[in-house]
Amino acid sequence: MRTYLVTGGAGFIGSNYIHYMFRKYGDQIRIINVDKLTYAGNLENLKDVENRDNYTFIRADICDGDAIAKIFAENDIDRVVHFAAESHVDRSIYEPELFVKTNVLGTATMLNCAKKAWENPDGTFKEGKKFLHVSTDEVYGSLTEDPTTFFYETTPYAPHSPYSASKASSDLLVKAYMDTYKFPANITNCSNNYGPYQFPEKLIPLVINNALHGKELPVYGDGKNIRDWLFVEDHAKGIDMVQEQGRLFETYNIGGHNERQNIQIIKTILKTLKELLPDEDPRKKNISEDLITYVTDRKGHDRRYAIAPDKIKKEVGWYPETNFEDGIKKTVKWYLENQEWMDHCISGDYQKYYKDMYENR
Ligand code: NAD
Ligand code: TYD
Repeated sequence: MRTYLVTGGAGFIGSNYIHYMFRKYGDQIRIINVDKLTYAGNLENLKDVENRDNYTFIRADICDGDAIAKIFAENDIDRVVHFAAESHVDRSIYEPELFVKTNVLGTATMLNCAKKAWENPDGTFKEGKKFLHVSTDEVYGSLTEDPTTFFYETTPYAPHSPYSASKASSDLLVKAYMDTYKFPANITNCSNNYGPYQFPEKLIPLVINNALHGKELPVYGDGKNIRDWLFVEDHAKGIDMVQEQGRLFETYNIGGHNERQNIQIIKTILKTLKELLPDEDPRKKNISEDLITYVTDRKGHDRRYAIAPDKIKKEVGWYPETNFEDGIKKTVKWYLENQEWMDHCISGDYQKYYKDMYENR
């Protein structure tokens, strides 16, 4: 039975990945989820799996070398899937040091502990061990609006925000471990994810929640910045396929082939909410394009991100299966059906869940 150490599994993508892996492999794998439970970590995302015999949650900081080394010492880890990070660009503009600490030092700690646990006396690594570092296309900087240009694995790094600079640094550390020690790893750089369990500071859940409450929908700048939206379950599948079928030491870009301007995204969400809400729902009257409010642009706002996921398609056979129309419908439907989850996020109540669930056990 393969044992996975997943970092940041209580976050948005990590929790979707854990759900995906249990759906796919059932009892054939074991997952240890290591998460510090920052404001972005929410164990309510994992209610469905917390009682499984093959799932363990450990609250730890990826910067804490002793805690991480202990997990490796006590468990024969076969796979590391490293999601844990500070992930929000706006926060990185106000608190860059935290991003350096978590994203750079945290990744260095994970690499160091995995290397020590997996290394043979002759400097080679134990058979079959693999580390996957989850990163972002934001490391490549910004594209112009020329629709024939894309990010490729060979695009030079040119990050702009403290967030993307810290992720670029973490990628370079993983590359250094691969080049120096032949450390068995892969890097994936993906585009903007959307789907269930995303913390409502990010564009899509923020717009859904604000619209339902008749609150303003803040659009940065002219609203024409472009992101390439990837359905989170497609991403989870891509990560697993890269780790099992990709070539070691390689980077794979994972993109949604789904470029949209922010303003288009907002209008699509409003349209979808109107379609899905029954007429008698009092929130329906709140849904209006009048809520759209143009606000001061984000500092250093990257204009366009877009991935051509050719390498992962050719080598691994992955492609983004969910088109945006279906994905956004599923997403809006999920938030409508999980209003309580959203309410707990907004009120901070989800942090009580850890206390009730784990501290008082
Ligand atoms: P998230 O902010 O939703 O979750 C991050 C998780 O990491 C949280 O559960 C948090 O508690 C945990 N964490 C933070 N600091 C920690 C620490 N020091 N020790 C242990 N755990 C810690 O982020 P996400 O959107 O799920 O992103 C996951 C990964 O994917 C990140 O590495 C991010 O850079 C990358 N990524 C995200 C997107 C996206 O669109 N969300 C796009 C590209 C890449
Ligand atoms: P975000 O979800 O923060 O992801 P990222 O910055 O990593 O791409 O933002 C997506 C886009 O939406 C980005 O161009 C910034 C913009 N945006 C707004 O216009 N208003 C908002 O309130 C937020 C959170 C983002």
